[in-house]
Amino acid sequence: MQKFKKIAALALTGALAMTVMAGCGTKTEEGGTTGGETGKKEKLIMATSADYPPYEYHDTSSGTDKIVGFDIDIINYIAKELNFEYEIKDMDFNGLLPALQSKRADFVMAGMTPKPERLANADFSIIYYEAKNTIIQKKGANLKKPEDLKGKKVGVQLGSIQEADAKNWEGIELKSLNKVNEMAQELKAGRLDAAIVEDVIAQGYAKNNPDLEFHVIESSEPAGSAVAFPKGNEKRVEDFNKVLQKMKDNGELEKLVVKWFGGEQ
Ligand code: ARG
Repeated sequence: MQKFKKIAALALTGALAMTVMAGCGTKTEEGGTTGGETGKKEKLIMATSADYPPYEYHDTSSGTDKIVGFDIDIINYIAKELNFEYEIKDMDFNGLLPALQSKRADFVMAGMTPKPERLANADFSIIYYEAKNTIIQKKGANLKKPEDLKGKKVGVQLGSIQEADAKNWEGIELKSLNKVNEMAQELKAGRLDAAIVEDVIAQGYAKNNPDLEFHVIESSEPAGSAVAFPKGNEKRVEDFNKVLQKMKDNGELEKLVVKWFGGEQ
């Protein structure tokens, strides 16, 4: 009961925060000036793949389509501290790094992991959250580790580290999907036997679909999240890092972890 109250309170705080932030994280334009003499705030383009609750997803519950989530709360804090505005461009995960490289975006926030292979194409901030990979499946399928997936149809997101990992697992039939949120339907319909997703994503799917469950892959490397930038933006990376570090030190990040991922596990 106590826990329920806490969750309800958190949800309410979240709802209020979203109202205040309305317009800030959506495609709709904001004012554009800081008021009077101070002139225009810099406007940055953030690319994301809003198919990844609770990191970033479309929330239509209030009648309007808003992108919300853990990453959005973090960027709202950073934008305030560094005094810039931003506009979200929502695209397939696989298109995010190309968008940075072709300068169609100033940064990416999409629960993206600074994998060594990506460092050639992007610079990354410090890691602000570390997740574990899991195998999500229909209840009772008993698929607990990569070896159990031999001969199975396994879903991963196109261009993700989960796809890169699963390519090394022998004997599986890999299906790369553009959007993570297609996976639950594919699993339920039996077109996939399993999918590889991070624990906080799997938790949400299992909660909303009682016929699904997941097992953490203990052997897999952690999937850290960081902000990605085009190469050669040292100053911006440094500025973002300062704020992220501040959020770690002042407890703001932990608050958001509790708000979006639930504190008690
Ligand atoms: N952390 C994983 C990666 O970097 C998956 C991120 C997927 N994010 C998303 N917004 N769909 O590859």
